[in-house]
Parts: sequence; structure tokens; C-alpha cells
Amino acid sequence: MTSPAELPLAAQSDSPASRPASSPNARPVLLLTRRLPDAVEARASRDYRAVLNPDDRAFSGTEIAARAAEVGADAVLCCAGDRLDAAAIAALPQQVRVLATFSVGTDHIDLEAARARGLTVTNTPDVLTDATADIALLLLLGAARRASEGERMIRANAWTGWTPTQLMGTHVGGKRLGIIGMGRIGQAVAARARAFGMTIHYNNRRRLPPELELGAIHHADPEAMLPVCDVLSLHFPATAETRHWLNAERIGRLPPGAILINTARGSVVDDDAVIDALKAGRLASAGLDVFENEPNLHPGYRDLPNAFLLPHLGSATVETRNAMGFKALDNIDAVMAGRPAPDRVV
Ligand code: DGY
Repeated sequence: MTSPAELPLAAQSDSPASRPASSPNARPVLLLTRRLPDAVEARASRDYRAVLNPDDRAFSGTEIAARAAEVGADAVLCCAGDRLDAAAIAALPQQVRVLATFSVGTDHIDLEAARARGLTVTNTPDVLTDATADIALLLLLGAARRASEGERMIRANAWTGWTPTQLMGTHVGGKRLGIIGMGRIGQAVAARARAFGMTIHYNNRRRLPPELELGAIHHADPEAMLPVCDVLSLHFPATAETRHWLNAERIGRLPPGAILINTARGSVVDDDAVIDALKAGRLASAGLDVFENEPNLHPGYRDLPNAFLLPHLGSATVETRNAMGFKALDNIDAVMAGRPAPDRVV
């Protein structure tokens, strides 16, 4: 564990780190658990005594709590891969008032433990909607058109030239896309898929008003929607209830040769069932950006030619990651100023 003196406090002209904690001008201490985009770190360092992680080391939840105690953190900016379970939340020093996650998903945080401790937790909704929807369409097209097989063929110098039957995929126009979870991202995926000529079916707790539904067909029961999904795209949060929601039985309700897209969380699918279905051709292909136990995904995916795999890139654009960071900082600013956090989850 790094000692406080060794921790890389951001360069500040008037060395706020050296001020006594009781100084009225002392800026609050903000612990950033991972390296963040330059613009975000610059703002964090301007407004806080920011403790950065320039080597981008991944810390366990307990280590994050210990670092927060060591540096006297008032706020922690954490990320999707940080496992902040009940033990880690309990170990956070009492001085930490806000835990702002650089993600819309909060499944890595024990929200009940945070609530019980009176810790404010915030997330970053809205700003990653378009980037995530773009990745869902990349996965959809890549899985339908066998992009990863083609790319690997070229890289392996195995392409012998154009042939009429080579790597024939599935045309997406005219196909039915079933979206489970028609929130912001689900709606953005629907808008893009309409441009490709797909018919939209969706399941959502509440039916959308016509101006948002835009002709999409609502199914109150997700089970009843599965048989019409030529492509199934998942957009619901990971919870204890949704763990392994897409299992062998539900895959069996999809049309033979359906395509699966997952940009939500890996744990909402049962990997063994998906891998078996991909091997058997019951699922034609899958486009997956998220995995259970990232980055240690189920090894069965690696050798499957019909799995188009990305390393959790949903929000990975400079613009989006900056916007996520600024949103996290807006939330921290609000809590530190005694205002309500705009994106308070707990
Ligand atoms: C999120 O925000 O939850 C994403 O998965 C991280 O990009």
C-alpha cells in the first residue's frame, strides 16, 4: 500500500496538500480509483486535492477503502470494475460523503450498504446513451455479417479471394429486433435499427407513449416476445433477479438462428447456455460487449467463430468518457456544496 506521502497528488500551484486540514481554504480530498481522461483529471485537480492513479492500477474494494482512509478522502470517484461490496463500504472512512461512479450501471456497488451508512451514491445516466447504442448496432451488424470471422481471415492471411458463398451472413433489413428494457439506450438502439429497416418489438415494465414508441410493438411479457425476436438485444440492469435471465429455456423460445446482442451486463446471460446454443447453431451468432466476471470471461467464447466479442467498449469514446467524468464531478461538487446531487442513486 502506498503511503500518503507517495500518493501522486495533482500538481497545484499553491500546494493545497500542504495546507492544514483545518484551513478554511483547504479543498476537499477526492480519490479517483482509476486513471480518467485528461480533461476530467484536470478539472478534478483544479477543484479538489485530487489523488490520481496514473498507473491505472485496479484496486480491490477493500484497497480502495484503505486508500480513502490513508489520503483522508472526502469523496471517491469510482468506476464500473471496482467491487464496492458491503465490507468495502463499511471500511470507507466516515469522512467520505459521496461515492460517484463513472458509469450508469451501479451493480458493482452494494447500494443497500451505502444507504445504511448514509453514503450518497451517484451515477452518470444519459451521456452514454448514444455511444452505447452505437456499439449495440456495431455488434448487431458485426454478428449478422460475420465481421469478426472476415477480419480474422484476412489477418491470418487465409483469404483466397472473393467467392459467391464466402461468409454469407444474415440481412438485417426486414428482420424483427426485440429489445428488452426500452429505457434511454433501448430507444436509441431502436432508432438506429429502424434506419436499417428492422421492425421493433420491445418489452418494458411500462408501455411507452406513442411519441416514444414510434410504432414499436409492446409486449407486456418478455417470454411472449421471445418467439418473434430474430435479433434479441438486452438493455436491463444486472440485479439478483436478472442474473442469468437468458437461460437455455428462454433461448429455446427464440426463433432458430436468432442473434443475441448484449451491451447491458454479462451476468444477465447464462454463459454456458449461450455457448451451447452458439455451438449448436440454435443461436446463429452473438455480439457481446459485456461478460460475467470481466475481464475473466468464460473461456468457451474465445474459440467460437460466431461470437463477435468486444472488451466493454459501450461508452468508450473520448466525448462520452469526458462527459461521464464531468457528470461524476458535477455530482461530487453538488454534495460538497451541500446541494442535492443531480444523479443521486442512493
Ligand atoms: C456503464 O456506464 O455502466 C458502462 O457499462 C461503462 O461504460
